[in-house]
Amino acid sequence: MAATDLERISNAEPEPRSLSLGGHVGFDSLPDQLVSKSVTQGFSFNILCVGETGIGKSTLMNTLFNTTFETEEASHHEECVRLRPQTYDLQESNVHLKLTIVDAVGFGDQINKDDRPIVDYIDTQFENYLQEELKIRRSLFDYHDTRIHVCLYFITPTGHSLKSLDLVTMKKLDSKVNIIPIIAKADTISKSELHKFKIKIMGELVSNGVQIYQFPTDDEAVAEINAVMNAHLPFAVVGSTEEVKVGNKLVRARQYPWGVVQVENENHCDFVKLREMLIRVNMEDLREQTHSRHYELYRRCKLEEMGFQDSDGDSQPFSLQETYEAKRKEFLSELQRKEEEMRQMFVNKVKETELELKEKERELHEKFEHLKRIHQEEKRKVEEKRRELEEETNAFNCRKAAMEALQSQALHATSQQPLRKDKDKKKF
Ligand code: GTP
Ligand code: MG
Repeated sequence: MAATDLERISNAEPEPRSLSLGGHVGFDSLPDQLVSKSVTQGFSFNILCVGETGIGKSTLMNTLFNTTFETEEASHHEECVRLRPQTYDLQESNVHLKLTIVDAVGFGDQINKDDRPIVDYIDTQFENYLQEELKIRRSLFDYHDTRIHVCLYFITPTGHSLKSLDLVTMKKLDSKVNIIPIIAKADTISKSELHKFKIKIMGELVSNGVQIYQFPTDDEAVAEINAVMNAHLPFAVVGSTEEVKVGNKLVRARQYPWGVVQVENENHCDFVKLREMLIRVNMEDLREQTHSRHYELYRRCKLEEMGFQDSDGDSQPFSLQETYEAKRKEFLSELQRKEEEMRQMFVNKVKETELELKEKERELHEKFEHLKRIHQEEKRKVEEKRRELEEETNAFNCRKAAMEALQSQALHATSQQPLRKDKDKKKF
């Protein structure tokens, strides 16, 4: 037998022995303690409503919780889908419920049918929870859990088939959230059309591999009702907060010239089935599934992405310390590589700049030499001109002096002539 097998056997826990008690001890009150603790702590439940503008999301929420939530009509002109969460504190008997209703505002209105904001919103809530879990000082006890427990997907009652947007969106969401598809405004579609529409929708969901939430059948207490209700999906609902007198009772209904559609009449619509399944029977399962299935998947992917793993190839137990060391080494070598890359880049840049500067210096030098040559040439020409001018001036001065000499000689000659004439006259 291999050493590791022996180790495993010696490490295996022995089977605990069953013993009978001699009398009442009291730990049978544990379930009650659990209930009491949960009631004190309160519950949170988060619903995401996805469906085109005006499909009846707010009306249905008001009808489901028999109250009026502060909701404003959504604009049809939003540039992209925006998630609008609103949280309310509700109380029924001594149970407190922190209910968050998240509206996907603008869904289905855009030409650009982007479902990314919805996926991102769901992931952000998972990430917030994960961050809280990873904190050294965790306070999960009073942490406001905003993870989406259920997505009510409102299908337009066309009677034809699902829109491609519906299929694409549900496919993207099905691994992240429990989807319950519902046919909205079911009073606008006839009974036979509705029957065919339901079959068509379920067929399309199956053929496109969309996983919708199935009411659990593993708990005996609710297995039967859940199995029956699974066959009724998608629920066709009618919402209304109006009260109409039927017989001598006031009931919530929609009144038309030809009759009254009663919200809570199971012959009229599936509203009661939805309320029963969503709130009265499976609310805790939805919360549980969100934590154990959808969040678990997100957490696993995220931790694997961060480099954590349960065991290596030889099935060695997971060590947080080793993973941390490995990640640290990886990070440091990456840092070193980046540093070296940056240093090299810097050296290259300096070399480049140095070359550029040298080239510029050479150009400047050449320019200077050229200008110097031009300057010398100019100077030589000016010098020559000056010499020529000097020579011309000298020649001019000589000519001037000669002229002046001639002039004075001539002047002298003319002044001597009258004297001689006078002498000659005297002789005669
Ligand atoms: P936005 O938040 O603006 O996207 O709309 P919404 O999806 O919340 O719809 P809202 O509940 O405001 O309802 C829009 C209109 O549809 C209102 O006039 C409602 O009275 C009507 N309406 C709601 N539910 C039903 C229904 O079940 N049947 C019919 N026929 N009309 C409904
Ligand atoms: Mg609304």
